[in-house]
This record gives sequence, C-alpha cells and structure tokens, in this order.
Amino acid sequence: MIKSRIVGTGHHLPEKILTNHDIEKLCDTNDEWITKRTGIRQRHNAAPHEGTSDLAAPATVRAIEAAGMQPEDIDLLICCTTTPDQMTPATACRVQAMIGAKNAGAMDLNAACTGFIYGVSTADALIKTGQAKNVVVVGAEVASVFLSWERRDTAVLFGDGAGAVVMSPSENGRGVLTSHTWADGTGVEMLWYPGGGSKIRPTHENLDDFAVHAVQMDGQSVFKRAVGDFSSAITTALDSAGFTIDDVDAMVPHQANTRIINAVAQRVGLPKEKCIINMDRVGNLIAGSIPVALDEAVRDGRVKEGDLVLIAGFGAGLTWGSALIRW
Ligand code: ACO
Repeated sequence: MIKSRIVGTGHHLPEKILTNHDIEKLCDTNDEWITKRTGIRQRHNAAPHEGTSDLAAPATVRAIEAAGMQPEDIDLLICCTTTPDQMTPATACRVQAMIGAKNAGAMDLNAACTGFIYGVSTADALIKTGQAKNVVVVGAEVASVFLSWERRDTAVLFGDGAGAVVMSPSENGRGVLTSHTWADGTGVEMLWYPGGGSKIRPTHENLDDFAVHAVQMDGQSVFKRAVGDFSSAITTALDSAGFTIDDVDAMVPHQANTRIINAVAQRVGLPKEKCIINMDRVGNLIAGSIPVALDEAVRDGRVKEGDLVLIAGFGAGLTWGSALIRW
C-alpha cells in the first residue's frame, strides 16, 4: 500500500536574536525566571518588513532542494500559520509565487501549535489516495506581531521562524505510519488572538487595546491540558501502529515549555535524550516549531533513515495531535 514519506526538510529563522536579557529591558522579567519556568534563552524576531511568507519561502526552497526537486514538481502547498501575511488570500499563495511553484495549489491551515501535524495528516491522506503527489507542508509564524512587550506572561514565550517538509509517495514501507488530530473548541478563549477577525472587529476605539489585538493565554490551564492531551496523543499513535514507547528512536514535540516536554516524557516513559529540543534557542514557533526542530535533527543526524520518529503537539483551539513516521 502506498504511504506518504517526508523526502526533504528545511527551515529559516530571521537574523535578529532577542535574548532573555534583551527582554529584561522591555518588561518586568528576568533571565532566571524565563529559563527556569520555560527553558527558553533566546528567540529570533522578524524585521519590520518581514511577513510570514518571507520566512516560509526560504524554508520551503531548502526543503525542495533537500528533496532533489524543483518548485515546479510541487502540486500542493499547505502553509500552516496563525499569523498570515493578510486575512485573505492565503499566505500559501504568496509563497507559491515567491518560489515559482507554478503547478501547485495553495492553501493555509490554522491549527495553531498543532498546525504542522494537521498539515502532515492532510498531506498524508491526499498522497495516499492519489489526489496529490508532491506536497509541501510549511509551518511559519511571525508571532512577534501578536505580542505586547509590556506583558511578561506572553512576551517571553514566542519566536519567529519557519520550517518546511516535502512529502511524496513511498512504496517501501517508510513514511507516515499513523496520524491523529483532535480539537476541543470549548477551549477557544483559553489561548487566542481575539481581535481583527469578523467577531471582534478592528475599530478606531480598540486599536491600541492589548486585550483585543495581542495573544491572550491562561498559561496554567493550558499547561495542565497540554500534559494530559499530549501524552494521550502519543499513546494513541503507538497503540494504533502496534508499537511501544521503547520502539521510538526520537520524538520531535511541539516546543512550548521544557517542563511540559519533561512531564510528558516521564508520563509515557520516554528517555529525555530521545526528545529533540531547540526551544532554548528559538522559543515557541507555534506552527513552525516541530518542522524547524525536525529539520535541525535531520541535518545533524539525530534523525536518520530507518528511525521511528514521533511528532506530537498541543496548542490553541484547543487542538492536539500526533504522527508516527518510519524515517
Ligand atoms: N517573568 C517573571 N515572572 C513572571 C513571568 C515572567 N515572564 N510570567 C509570569 N510571572 C509570574 C506571575 O506573575 C506569577 O507571579 P505571582 O506568583 O506573584 O502571581 C508567577 O510568575 C507564576 O506565574 P504562572 O502563570 O503561575 O507561571 P507558570 O509556572 O504557569 O508559567 C507559563 C507560565 C510559562 C506560561 C506556563 O504556564 C506555560 O508554559 N503554559 C503553557 C503554554 C503553552 O503550552 N502554550 C501552547 C502553545 S502556544 C499556541 O498554541 C499559540
């Protein structure tokens, strides 16, 4: 039976680095608190002229090059993001034009921090049914546009960046073995960007209101849900593909907080050394988080041919998901 396989990966981070010490100058926080409570030491920030497509395009080009393909070989481009260039059309359309993927359909997908897993799951289904052949899934964010630097509870957490994969048919048993996605819409207001859409519209009166136009998060509630749902997503992936946690060679989790990853790893019995972690250097990249960490691990050999790789994430929506991949 045909499977889908990741045949190329790439990522791109903007040049500017903002350390915890830099943020100390912007709000009432300190490096010790941020490092201890989140595991983050620095993050990258896009320049004022850079939008999500400007990060997504170079990441996608690198993934296509790694796959040994040309942009014209791509027949669908899925851009997973919570920070699109504009409300419409899709950021994916701009990326398609920037890289010259003239034979590709293009659409955005918003499942917040779980976006990349939703993207992989969608691409997998389309490839398996023969509806698409070479699909790019790119997770890209300029999260800094939705931050208020005065709000220490969220300002310290997020970074900007993009990671991409190319997925193609595989007939040799390698590839996506199983993928699952879930949502609980009763948690919309636990973690959200309220304003700017059709429900809470931008007005002259609310334009400067942080509570409308910046990310709002009930951190502790999200933390508790994340540990439980993340763990069950992993268990479901393993059970449905007939593996145990001991079979897993590497897990690339969503990078929100090292305490969440440690708690999940302990709960499911995965040694910490098997968790790919890069949030100390990049922060929480939302939909870009898993593909950036994955590309780093592929390029430095922590993920290699034949490995059983687990990707799992949790985020706004609430949404969560997992996929098990024979690399
Ligand atoms: N610097 C210094 N102190 C701070 C900071 C900061 N940056 N932020 C909060 N504090 C203070 C609080 O004011 C509070 O002080 P108090 O005790 O005097 O009231 C104290 O630290 C503890 O605050 P908590 O909110 O309880 O801190 P917690 O340990 O829960 O950590 C955090 C906060 C890091 C946000 C954590 O809750 C978390 O990681 N939550 C999950 C985030 C997540 O997974 N998001 C999902 C993905 S994102 C997406 O989908 C878009």
